[in-house]
Amino acid sequence: MTDVPESSSQRAAELRRVLQAASIAYHVHDAPVLEDSVYDRLYRELQTLEQTDPSLIVPDSPTQRVGERPAVGFESVTHAIPLFSLDNAFSLAELHKWEISLLRVLGLEPSAASAVDYVCELKIDGSALALTYENGILTRGVTRGDGRAGEDITSNVRTIRTLPLRLHVDAPPPVVEIRGEAYLPDAEFERINRDRLAAGEPAFANPRNCAAGTLRQLDSRVVRDRKLQFFAYTLHLPQGWPGGTLPTSQLEALDVMQSLGFAVNPHRELCPSIREVGAFFERWDGDRKTLPYQTDGAVVKVNQLNQQEEAGFTQRSPRWAIALKYPAEEVPS
Ligand code: IVH
Repeated sequence: MTDVPESSSQRAAELRRVLQAASIAYHVHDAPVLEDSVYDRLYRELQTLEQTDPSLIVPDSPTQRVGERPAVGFESVTHAIPLFSLDNAFSLAELHKWEISLLRVLGLEPSAASAVDYVCELKIDGSALALTYENGILTRGVTRGDGRAGEDITSNVRTIRTLPLRLHVDAPPPVVEIRGEAYLPDAEFERINRDRLAAGEPAFANPRNCAAGTLRQLDSRVVRDRKLQFFAYTLHLPQGWPGGTLPTSQLEALDVMQSLGFAVNPHRELCPSIREVGAFFERWDGDRKTLPYQTDGAVVKVNQLNQQEEAGFTQRSPRWAIALKYPAEEVPS
């Protein structure tokens, strides 16, 4: 390496690329490709280059994950597309009722139910986030808030290692909004509470409160140290994707998000009928207890995006999706 500025910028780009790939391999795929010591050496090399020439700093550099200074507060941001919540069903009988009204809205007789496929996903018990990427770069992370407006917590969102600061694609869409759930794995939640109790601070009641409280911390260094994770579940392409392939179904949208570098929950399933939806729900009532994070139901979505569009929304929720909830666990007194 020489001191010629052009090669510093080439070296910085190379380091960013290698560090980003190593970070995704480690945090998303659980398959490290670099020794920790090598990662640290390359990271420090990049930091030194950037300190020597700050013009080399770009927003998606791995060094920018950690806010250097605490924020003074969060700005309120209106969501371009509101974050709707889901209607709930608490039994398979309620699920069947939902299907009948869905078919009616789609102009289908109950006998034509096979015209609709569903995707079942697990309902992750965390805190919803809306992430904006412009020309492939993460530019904004906003909380759900009241669904119309949330808080701009971009500096905190950047510390979440299971989401990309730059999309893994050569020709990114001009704008993409990814929605998903930030959550704390159970083991991390327990560690945080142990540390809080040891420091004489009150413990968080559950991982969801802990995740929501963490996202609204003013000091992003605290956020970085509590290892939040993120599962992506909704893809919005408000300006389309010239040069990209537009998904036509929710299942394809999940695959697209995965290929862009997001963690997408692997326990998703295409269900050709509501009977398979019921089977998914019942199977996961037991199996979810073996997962290292909290879930509180299944989210059932119409798979085809054109059918979603046709079904539309009520005042507060989509008609094409429903949350099928597990009964709340008894809290031991
Ligand atoms: S879809 C309009 N999918 O559950 C579509 N939501 O009210 C709305 N959630 O706060 C969301 N896991 O944050 C969707 N796989 C999943 C989800 C999920 C958890 C949360 C979401 C929202 C609540 C539903």
